[in-house]
Amino acid sequence: MNQYLLKGQTLRFAENPFSGDPASACVHERRGAVVIEDGTVLANGNADALEREYSDAKTIDYKNSLILPGFIDSHVHYPQTAIIASWGKRLIEWLNGYTFPEETRFADADHAAETAARFFDLNIQNGITTCCSYCTIHPQSVDAYMTEARARGMRVAGGKVMMDRNAPDALRDTAEQSYSDSKALLEKWHGVDRLEYVVTPRFAPTSTPAQLEAAGALWAEHPECLMQTHLSEQKEEIQWVGELFPDAPDYFGVYEKYRLVGPGAVMGHSIHLTEREWARIAETGTAIGHCPTSNTFIGSGLFNMKRAQGLGIPVGLATDVGGGSSFSMLRTMAAAYEIGQLGGTAIHPAQLLWLATEGSARALRMDRKIGRLDPGMEADIVVLDLKSTPVIEQRVDRARDVWEAVFPTIMLGDDRAIEAVWINGIPA
Ligand code: GUN
Ligand code: ZN
Repeated sequence: MNQYLLKGQTLRFAENPFSGDPASACVHERRGAVVIEDGTVLANGNADALEREYSDAKTIDYKNSLILPGFIDSHVHYPQTAIIASWGKRLIEWLNGYTFPEETRFADADHAAETAARFFDLNIQNGITTCCSYCTIHPQSVDAYMTEARARGMRVAGGKVMMDRNAPDALRDTAEQSYSDSKALLEKWHGVDRLEYVVTPRFAPTSTPAQLEAAGALWAEHPECLMQTHLSEQKEEIQWVGELFPDAPDYFGVYEKYRLVGPGAVMGHSIHLTEREWARIAETGTAIGHCPTSNTFIGSGLFNMKRAQGLGIPVGLATDVGGGSSFSMLRTMAAAYEIGQLGGTAIHPAQLLWLATEGSARALRMDRKIGRLDPGMEADIVVLDLKSTPVIEQRVDRARDVWEAVFPTIMLGDDRAIEAVWINGIPA
C-alpha cells in the first residue's frame, strides 16, 4: 500500500483569516498528521488518532516541524530567472534594459529548457509546488516550461506572452500570430496531467487594441483557462497607458473594454488604483497577484491589502521573479508584512500563510484541488523547520504560542527552513 502518514505540527484554516479574528480561523495540532495515498490527501488531524486508524501507513516523523500545503506563487516570470537582482532601474527601463534582452534568448529551445529546469529546482528548494508563470513570445518557451513541470508532476499554469508593440523586433508577434500560437499551445497543453494554459497578454502598453481584442476572443472561447496580465504597477506606466488608450476611463477600463476581466483574470500588482478601479475589480470578481518584493525592489509602491480584502477581492501572493528579488515565499511573506506595516496594517502570520497557500489557490481558481490539506485534495506539501537558523531558534525558544513560533521563520527564514517538499504525493 502506498500510504504515508506524515507527523508534525499542522495548521488548518477553518475560515478565511481575513474575515474575522485571524488566530481563531486556524486549527493548530501540536501533534498532528497528514495521511496521503497516491497523490491524494486522505486525512488531516490528530496524530494519535490517525496512527490508530491508518496503522499500515508508512510513518515519517517530522517532529516539531510544520506541515503545510505547498506554497503557490500566483505571478512569476520563469524566463527572468537569470536576471533576478538586476540593479538600479524602474519598470520601463528595467524591461528594456534587462528583461527584453534576456527574453530574446528564449528563441533558443535549449536555453528555454535549461532555464525551466533551473527555475523549477529553485521553486522546489523554496517549497513552491505550484506557480502561474509568464513565458515569452516564443512557443518553445511554453513547451520547455510545460515539459519540465510535467516531468516533475507539478500542477502549474503558464502561457505565451502576447506582445505586438513597444518591444524589440525579435520580441514582437502580431495580433493574428499571437492568437493562433496561443490557441495551438492551449490545445496542446491545457489539461495534460496537471498543466493549465493561461491566456497572457503581457500588459496594455505592449499590445495593440487588435491584439487585446484577439486575447479577449481567445479567452472567451476558452473560459476554462486563466487570463493573466499586469495592472497599475508604476505611475509612469499608468500615464503611458492613458496616452495609448485615450478613450479608456483608466487602466483597468482598458482590460474591461477587451473582455479581459472577471473570474479567472489575475492582475499582477494593482497598486495605484482609482476608486472606480477598486470597485470594478471587486464587482467583476477579478483576482490580484500581490508581488511585494518586486514592488519594493523596482520601487513601485505599496499595495493596499486591507482594502482588497475588505472588498472581497481574491488576492494571491507572488514572487514576480525577476522583478521580484527572491524565490523564497517566506521572504515574500516578510515583504508583504513590511508593506502592510508601511500602510498601517500588521498582517497576521495566519493571514500571510493563508495568502501563500489557499489565497493563491483561490486567485488561480485551483482551490478545489490545492491550497489546503483536506481529504480529497492533491498532496502537494511543504514541511517547515521552525528552527532553521540560530537567530530563529533563540527566538522560537521564547515563543508563547504557535504564532510566535511561526512568525520568526516568516520574517527570517529562507530555503534553509524548507525541510521537505512533496509533489503529488511523492517526495521531491
Ligand atoms: N509589466 C510588464 N511586464 C512586466 C514584467 O515582466 N515584470 C514586471 N514586474 N512588470 C511588468
Ligand atoms: Zn510580472
